[in-house]
Amino acid sequence: MNPPVFLVGFMGSGKTRTGKELAERLAWEWIDLDDQIVETAGKSIPQIFSGEGEEHFRQLERRCLQKVLSRENLVVSCGGGIVTQPESLNLLLEQPRVICLRISPETVFRRVGNDPRRPLLQGADSMGIIRSLMREREPCYSRFPHQIDVDKRNASEVVDEIVGLLELEG
Ligand code: S3P
Repeated sequence: MNPPVFLVGFMGSGKTRTGKELAERLAWEWIDLDDQIVETAGKSIPQIFSGEGEEHFRQLERRCLQKVLSRENLVVSCGGGIVTQPESLNLLLEQPRVICLRISPETVFRRVGNDPRRPLLQGADSMGIIRSLMREREPCYSRFPHQIDVDKRNASEVVDEIVGLLELEG
């Protein structure tokens, strides 16, 4: 049994890039949960948020998460807000291989502050939004035993650390 590695963490923390690189290193499959949601809904993330709302998005996200839990040799990059849905958070907390990528608000702002594909960051004060969302989510992110500070590391250094932390063959 080789359960999936899940990457969680705030928007812009490099879950996608790191996930792809980790999967390549392990010769495992990689999926992005956001892509699965878009495929299931047949709509983009901004369209889901503006049409059906965030709550609906979180339900789709939970269903997509449930579908991959029993897979093997898989790296899953999760959306940053997955931890805000209590059932999704609990499912992830039960998984043996979850890595939380930690990032400062300043780096998030630099990386994705003006990205129109991230509906939650839209508004006049995206730095303020980042800070307050991060504060709200902090108690959830901090529950994961494996935490990696990514502010001063590139994706390949983060991958090295994940492989070491989880004792995977790299
Ligand atoms: C979200 C993060 C996004 C995406 C959606 C909501 C969030 O994923 O799931 O826009 O609430 O933090 P990334 O973390 O990959 O940007």
